[in-house]
Formats: sequence, structure tokens, C-alpha cells
Amino acid sequence: MKVLVVGSGGREHALAHFLAQDVHVREVLVAPGNAGMANDARRVPYDDPRDLVTLAASERIDLTVIGPEAPLAAGLADELRAQGIAVFGPGRDGARLESSKAYAKDFMQRHGVPTARYATFTNLAAALDYLREVGTPIVVKDSYLAAGKGVTIAHAPEEAERVLRELFQRENAEVVLEAFLEGQELSVHVLTDGVHALTLPLAQDHKQVGEGDVGPMTGGMGAVAPVPLLNERDQARLEDEIIAPVLRGLAADEIDYRGVLFLGVMWTAEGPQLLEINVRFGDPETQTLLPLLDGCLLPMFEAVEHRTLDAWHPVWKSGTVAATVVLAAPGYPGAYEKGLPVRIPDARESDTWVFHAGTSRHDDGFVTSGGRVLAVTALDGDLARAVAKAYREVDRIDLPGAVVRRDIGGRLLP
Ligand code: GLY
Repeated sequence: MKVLVVGSGGREHALAHFLAQDVHVREVLVAPGNAGMANDARRVPYDDPRDLVTLAASERIDLTVIGPEAPLAAGLADELRAQGIAVFGPGRDGARLESSKAYAKDFMQRHGVPTARYATFTNLAAALDYLREVGTPIVVKDSYLAAGKGVTIAHAPEEAERVLRELFQRENAEVVLEAFLEGQELSVHVLTDGVHALTLPLAQDHKQVGEGDVGPMTGGMGAVAPVPLLNERDQARLEDEIIAPVLRGLAADEIDYRGVLFLGVMWTAEGPQLLEINVRFGDPETQTLLPLLDGCLLPMFEAVEHRTLDAWHPVWKSGTVAATVVLAAPGYPGAYEKGLPVRIPDARESDTWVFHAGTSRHDDGFVTSGGRVLAVTALDGDLARAVAKAYREVDRIDLPGAVVRRDIGGRLLP
């Protein structure tokens, strides 16, 4: 099999790496990829969906795995399927659940999925009136794609107003104002082939840049899995109250969804509430979940595409916890410098991985070329040991001024 991975981040590095380990995979191509993927995949310098369809046909690709949301929202999966090329990821109709937060909230409401109270606005005056009525804390969401950074939790009215004014400077702005919910946030990945569904081990991300969950939102600063927060009864509630109505909603709306649903769930004192629907794997959740799989990755993608997910029975490494810590460039998630040298030692402890996200080659070494630069994942027998091991690897990497959260997994540790 020849597999094409679309994207260039740490998630795509993890996908390419574990696909390349599969004996049934002859070659992995990654478009456009990043400098750190060279050992796992052949890079091809395309990211325009039209070029990718031509590439997949000319390279006789057997399966395309689309990593990020933007090409899904642009209809890349539809184009590939129209050419008879197997693909992992929903069409444009399914991708709308992520590319429009307003549509996603409407979907949740129409299909009886518990979610925070909200209102959608296309003009500033109405949004400010609503803000005055409901007050803070409040969550301000750019309705459109924003690489995970379009969400602000505003604790004071001035902050909410400032963000609203910024967002409404853009033409055709659409903003969702949503009640702030407290609880434990979970990253719930559900594979579906349009007929069957399978929930992966629960993960937990750390989206704000500062320790103790303060500061601006990022794409994600670190994740852990599995998350032992739900007992059997709560797991059943998650399936019944969140996952089942989402799947029923897709069927009722005649969306033939083949891919992964990454549901951002807040477990509140009253139970689960759906915060957001993403139509791709999380980053860095992917780097955290894939090393836990005891077996090959290719059959998962084949099962989703061929609607045989009921016959795929993954085995997860038992007694094993994964922790991922992100190293970001100085200044991230604001303006950050590029071209800074990054030195990564070759020798590493067993069961650790360094996934590249924002690196380029310069002379003999790597330099930064993105906001999130690397994601370091470690496996060990319990959470504390996995986290400590990940930080040992992080501390061996030389990236002066790197932004690193030092409390990954902290919400679950005593
Ligand atoms: N880790 C959050 C995201 O991928 O959106």
C-alpha cells in the first residue's frame, strides 16, 4: 500500500511515523510535511487541494489520510472519493461541524446534544447587547476556522468587549457567545464509518498557554491518555448522552461521515456537555494516542473507509499511560520568531518519541519554522512516571526560550 498523509504538524508526523511501521505499507508520502519527517515519509511540496488530487492519482495512492481541518472543509475528501481514491476524513458537509461553530451549535441543539447556552451574532451591536445582558465569564468563539486559537474565555466584560470588537473588524464575521462551563475537559475521539462507531481511549489536552490554565488559547500544549476520570456509569453516560445523539444527528442530516469525530467534552457537576466538534484527530492528542495502540494502524483507516469498523478490534497497551509535552517557539501563541536553532539529541530513553511540528532544515541541523515546534511523547506504567519521562526528554532538547507548560497531566495527579 502507498499512503499519502496530508498536513505538516506533529499530528501528521505521528500518523506518518506509525503508518510507516506497518508491514503492509510500502511507502508513505506526506504533503507538505516538515523537515523532521524525512525518516518516515517522502515529502511532496503540495498543499492546494487540486494539486493533492492530481498527486494522489499520479502516484497511485491507495489511501489518503487528511490530518487538518482546512483541506476537509475545502472538500478534499469529496474530490478524492470522486476519483475513486480511498480517504480517511469527512466530506465538506461533515467538515462544516468544525468550519462553522454556529452551525455546530445549531446541530447540537437540533439533535438534543447537551451543550452550553449560546447565541450567534453577525453584528457587533447585538453581540454587545447580549454581553451586557448575560455578563461574564463568557466564552467568545470565532465561528470560523482559527487553528484552535479562535476561542477566548473572558472573565471581565472589558475583555469580552475587546475580543468582540477585534473579531467584528473582519468582513462577514460570525461570533458565538457561549456560557462558560466548569469541569474537567476531555478529548473524546470517535471513529465512524457512517454505520459503526468506536470510541478511542479518552485523552486530556491543555489548551491555554500558561500553567494552571491561564493565558491565551493555543493549539494545545500537551496531552495525556488514557484519562481515568470516568467510571463505567459515566462512560455509559458519555456514550448515551453525547456520542449517540451526535451519530444519530449525522444520520438524520444525511451526512455520510467516514473519519474521526473529535468531541471536546466538558464533564460538569451535572454531567457531560459538548463544547465543540472537530472533524479530525486532535493535536497533540494524536501523538499521545497512537503510541498506545498495540498493533498496526493501517487496518483502522481501511476499516473506516470500507465501513467494516465493527470488525476492527484495537488492542491498547495495558498498564501504560502516555504523556505528550509541546515545545513552542518563544512568543507563541503570539508573534514568534522563526529560524532559531533546535538541537535534538539522537539518544533517547525507550518508549519516547519526538514528533516535529514546526521545523525546517538549515545546514546540518533543524531550525524553528512554526509556533508549535516539537511534541515529545513518553509511555510509562503510570501517569506520574510518563509525565516525568516526557519532561526528561524535553530537557535534553536545546531550544532557547522555548514555551513549555510544566504542569501537563497535573489536573489528574494527586
Ligand atoms: N488539541 C486540540 C485540537 O487539536 O484542536
